[in-house]
Amino acid sequence: MKANILKILKDAKDYVSGQELCEHLGVSRTAVWKAIQQLEKEGYEIEAKRNRGYRLTEGKNVFAATEIKSILQTEQVGHNLVFLDLVDSTNNEARRQAEKGAGDGTLVVALEQSSGKGRRGRSWVSARGAGVWMSLLLRPDFMPEDASMLTLIAAMAVREGIRQVTGLEGQIKWPNDVVLNGKKVCGILTEMSTEMEWIRYVVIGIGINVNMREFPEEIRETATSLALCADKTIRCAELIAAVAGTWEYYYKKFLKTRDLSLLMEEYNQMLVNVDREVKVLAPKGEYTGISRGINERGELLVETNQELRTVLSGEVSVRGIYGYV
Ligand code: BTN
Repeated sequence: MKANILKILKDAKDYVSGQELCEHLGVSRTAVWKAIQQLEKEGYEIEAKRNRGYRLTEGKNVFAATEIKSILQTEQVGHNLVFLDLVDSTNNEARRQAEKGAGDGTLVVALEQSSGKGRRGRSWVSARGAGVWMSLLLRPDFMPEDASMLTLIAAMAVREGIRQVTGLEGQIKWPNDVVLNGKKVCGILTEMSTEMEWIRYVVIGIGINVNMREFPEEIRETATSLALCADKTIRCAELIAAVAGTWEYYYKKFLKTRDLSLLMEEYNQMLVNVDREVKVLAPKGEYTGISRGINERGELLVETNQELRTVLSGEVSVRGIYGYV
């Protein structure tokens, strides 16, 4: 109900009478008044005037569950929204929710993570309110070997969500980092629970550096934020809603073919390392070649002197990116 009241006040831009809110939502005046009080607690400024009703003061940057719900335009993603003040890791929480039976499309968002996880056992800096730290729970009915493609789709969704909200045109560093001005602005960590040949659930963890202006020494050279690139404060709630929407758009396309054949052209246009020399840190040793983009399975094609190799896993480091030569 809170999100509905918020929506009505936002759309009205002027006073809305208590009576109107009651009738519209089919609740009592007391219930409306209580919801208004809760909204104020979340950080909204709401003017109440005798004989006129309630009016929302515009321009407040509120990062709360109600705000996300009031602007979310998805069919499914985020309808079950778990919004937490502090959590160890939203990926861990999404797994806990999954074990308790939470459904496909559940979204876990936290203001702060105390043990944010990065890939390869690294930690992820997740300062309070300064970024989007969220995890999407999926219960897909395809094979575990298809799940790695989901991470690439998530990168596309983030890149497009960022564009919609800020106008900034990011790029993707294969497989799933989003970069702006040659620095990392988003990382994605996908985790999965499988049983025999099938997926119990997948958790796609997305970390976007939004409003931080400074980074710890270790990542200062390689990380950036949307606020630094756009030179203004960005609304996290708006960004979450945008990414959730773009995720659904790309995921639907993926489900049509269960591979990236309908998406790879667009992905390759977003790719930072296409037609450039890359260094592949493969398990069997390092080699260099020219990146030729991904195939329909999301594998990176790298042209060496002798052949076109397919990179499944391992890390591709791109010259000129992240401080590499
Ligand atoms: C990377 O190393 O690039 C992946 C970083 C993923 C960070 C996000 S923040 C939200 C979610 N919860 C986590 O603990 N990690 C992911």
